[in-house]
Amino acid sequence: MALRNIVKVGDDILRKKSREVTKFDARLHQLLDDMKETLYKSNGVGLAAVQVGVLRRVVVIDCGDGYLELINPEITDSEGEQEEVEGCLSVPGRNGITKRPMKVTVKAQNRDGKWCVYQGEGLKARCFCHELDHLDGILFTDNMIKEVVIECEE
Ligand code: NI
Repeated sequence: MALRNIVKVGDDILRKKSREVTKFDARLHQLLDDMKETLYKSNGVGLAAVQVGVLRRVVVIDCGDGYLELINPEITDSEGEQEEVEGCLSVPGRNGITKRPMKVTVKAQNRDGKWCVYQGEGLKARCFCHELDHLDGILFTDNMIKEVVIECEE
């Protein structure tokens, strides 16, 4: 496994649409392993492949209740509404409130190409929405209702 560099806001790649994964091969598995390591080293809850410079529809998530790999993910159902604070490893130093569904259902392939269904509520629902937005070149700051200052330097 290898740590990959996280692309920061200002780099045009973050605005591009990621392409569908069609090969579930060793190269994909290497990408997933590297993304997992990068996610944990960065103390993030989610990471999309575009954030490590790869325009493929691949996301890794761990909101504290287990690690997930989502390939070619799609939201198939959503319910309710929440307004909570969000941040992003590619947008360091900024946090803000966004409006997201309270519950979402996501359909995605695993690293072997098998389709699975996941449900998320609260933080996990936000995380699914935030990471899937990355695959279409959308950043949380695009839909931010209000900027929130979480920490200030002395
Ligand atoms: Ni992000």
